[in-house]
Amino acid sequence: MNKDSNNQNPISTEPYKGVRDFYPEDMTVQNYIFDIWRKSAKKFGYEEYSASILEPAELYRAKSGEEIVNEQTYTFTDRGDREVTLRPEMTPTLARMISAKRKSLTFPIRWFSMPNLFRYEQPQRGRVREHFQFNADIFGIASTDAEIEIISLANETVLSYGLKPKDFEILINSRKLMDFITRDVLSLDSDKSHKLSKLIDRKNKLPADVFEMGIKEIIGDKADAFLTLLNSQNFEEFTNSLQKTSGEQDGIREIKEVIKGLEDLGITNVRFDQTLMRGFDYYTGVVFEVFDTDPKNRRALFGGGRYDDLLAIFDGEKIPAVGFGSGDVTARDIMEIRDLLPKNSKSADVYICPTDIPYKPFANDLAQIVRNSGFSASVDYTTKKIGDKIKYADKKNIPLVIVVGENEKNSGKFSIKKLSSGESVETDADNLVKILREIIK
Ligand code: HAM
Repeated sequence: MNKDSNNQNPISTEPYKGVRDFYPEDMTVQNYIFDIWRKSAKKFGYEEYSASILEPAELYRAKSGEEIVNEQTYTFTDRGDREVTLRPEMTPTLARMISAKRKSLTFPIRWFSMPNLFRYEQPQRGRVREHFQFNADIFGIASTDAEIEIISLANETVLSYGLKPKDFEILINSRKLMDFITRDVLSLDSDKSHKLSKLIDRKNKLPADVFEMGIKEIIGDKADAFLTLLNSQNFEEFTNSLQKTSGEQDGIREIKEVIKGLEDLGITNVRFDQTLMRGFDYYTGVVFEVFDTDPKNRRALFGGGRYDDLLAIFDGEKIPAVGFGSGDVTARDIMEIRDLLPKNSKSADVYICPTDIPYKPFANDLAQIVRNSGFSASVDYTTKKIGDKIKYADKKNIPLVIVVGENEKNSGKFSIKKLSSGESVETDADNLVKILREIIK
């Protein structure tokens, strides 16, 4: 820690824009979130998979959506002239992996992962350029049982964060319903339908008059009727106005089935939202997002849906698929504002402090005994005063301290001090593990 006076061009210690460093206290939180993700997925019988962050750029061109591919990916050319992208989402990678082994895999498949993803976005609250995302996907189930299972897994995860059902809501819509409206009711071509869905996706981010103007530009005469439809207050009102012009459509049936199926499981904070679009082009049916009901935190916690056609980009074969992604940043935010995050974690169970250099071997021996028993121990190698060594242990949340010096070395007996109460328990090396098991529950 000596200053180098020749250092003319110091390098900044800031991380790259929009990415985060994870100091140990951040890793405590991160691991807490990862543990919840992993436990929730395993409860539902999902198996973990992983892949490289590097993918050929073409993987995203087929179906991810223009905004993601043109504006949000980190893409570069490698030394062999290949175009490479840092994965902005996991779904195309997963689809590639499933398609590659389709013949040898046993369906239905339930898989989960917790990848880091890279998106060139404007960093802001809830949005960063590298985030970690819980992905859970099910392949091979064409019925809405898949949507119901996937949404109940999302629900289980949010409850495991410590939130109550009133703290969040699950919004659902269907691409089929929207496609039906744009194609059959409004008679839009695919370019205009696409523009319309992108505009609806941005509805909450635009002033009402700008949004309405945009709608009028795309659909002309029928704009007023469409805006009334879009602003209907509930599912019944929305579907009633549709049924006048058509029979009950697949999209409506699926939404009803999913809401009913979730209700049967006791999940009642589900709401139809005709403005929910989802940014990706690959969705084909029910889509959903989970939102915090706290207005301070209006970012999606989960986003997902059905994408039955995506696997056909590889070998022409479709496989029914439903899944979601859920980011670590929003997970952290919702727990933080409700004070649900774990506080400091301990760096070790026991801190062993020799009073002087000759007692280090004895301290090291005790540390090995502790480690071999499955507990953790660190040894203090500094020349600080004993009082300062104990203060260090306290700061690091290490609950137990053993001081070893001349007396301890000669007698073989020493005390385990509990820093929380100041209490001490005397023991020797042979009984150390037994005592630790009693103290550390
Ligand atoms: P997505 O809606 O783009 O979906 O992302 C899912 C979740 O990831 C969001 O709701 C949010 O929690 C988090 N997230 C996304 N972008 C960022 C960011 N820049 N910073 C922080 N958090 C972010 C997908 O990615 C789909 N591939 C999900 C999926 C899986 N669909 C089917 N299977």
